[in-house]
Amino acid sequence: MKTVQTINDLTNFLECNKGKTIGFVPTMGYLHEGHLALLNMAREENEIVVASIFVNPAQFGPNEDLDRYPRDLERDTMLAAKAGVDALFVPTAKDMYPFESGITINAGELSNKLCGESRPGHFDGVLKVITKLFHLVQPTKAYFGQKDAQQLAIIETFVSAYNFPVQIIRVSTVRENDGLAKSSRNVFLSDSERIEAVHLYEALSIATETWKKTKDVNEAIAKGKSHIEQNTSGRIDYFDVLTYPNLKANIENAEQLLFATAVFFEKARLIDNIIVEVK
Ligand code: PAJ
Repeated sequence: MKTVQTINDLTNFLECNKGKTIGFVPTMGYLHEGHLALLNMAREENEIVVASIFVNPAQFGPNEDLDRYPRDLERDTMLAAKAGVDALFVPTAKDMYPFESGITINAGELSNKLCGESRPGHFDGVLKVITKLFHLVQPTKAYFGQKDAQQLAIIETFVSAYNFPVQIIRVSTVRENDGLAKSSRNVFLSDSERIEAVHLYEALSIATETWKKTKDVNEAIAKGKSHIEQNTSGRIDYFDVLTYPNLKANIENAEQLLFATAVFFEKARLIDNIIVEVK
């Protein structure tokens, strides 16, 4: 595996592999089995696998965890190599954003709900870095986790609306044995919070089961919320049911429903979701 630090080195690497299919996995590092699932799928489906590690300042708000976002490049490099990555792109912020163009990308309506509501500008920042990364890597396929369902919906819509020549691949959420979705931010949980955190997925499961039985969204949300309130010390940011991938509150005629929650713990905000096929 080649670690490439500059855009020049990346371009040279790609020049040497011209004509081959490229699978791309963008990450912010501190790799865990969720990321590895994306890398494994990319490895299976493409001739070349490029992964990036970049803690993107543009997607962090002023009071968020940019400075303390967990980092371990040595371990990440080892894991990426083991997963069969051909090139690991690790740019600096200066490399990615050498000048301020004053031109912005607005994620629009899809970003005004769920995580976007408490993280204004977050998805604009995600689209900013994804646009740059897609232009630099020019992947055949790019892999994203369902764990970040709103991010996935926005990227899928963006790519389709603006004709990016890339296929977006959705990868299922990888979980710990007790059901907690794997996340780089889980390291911020205290021991007791780690035990409580399993109740996010349980609450989502209760909500989906309630909905399947009653078709009553309000009852499903109420049951899910109350499960989190009764079993965790966390503060619910949102617990919502929307259509997927359009993220509409009116669920009539929906083919897929997104049950999603975000909960603030002392030092971490955790998110999780379940997507249900509506028959
Ligand atoms: P990051 O949080 O590092 O996640 C990178 C990719 O891994 C995302 O597509 C995310 O959905 C996926 N992922 C994370 N946890 C997962 C899990 N438990 N199961 C399956 N997939 C999982 O998401 C970002 O970085 C950034 O916003 C990024 C897209 C790289 C843009 O900066």
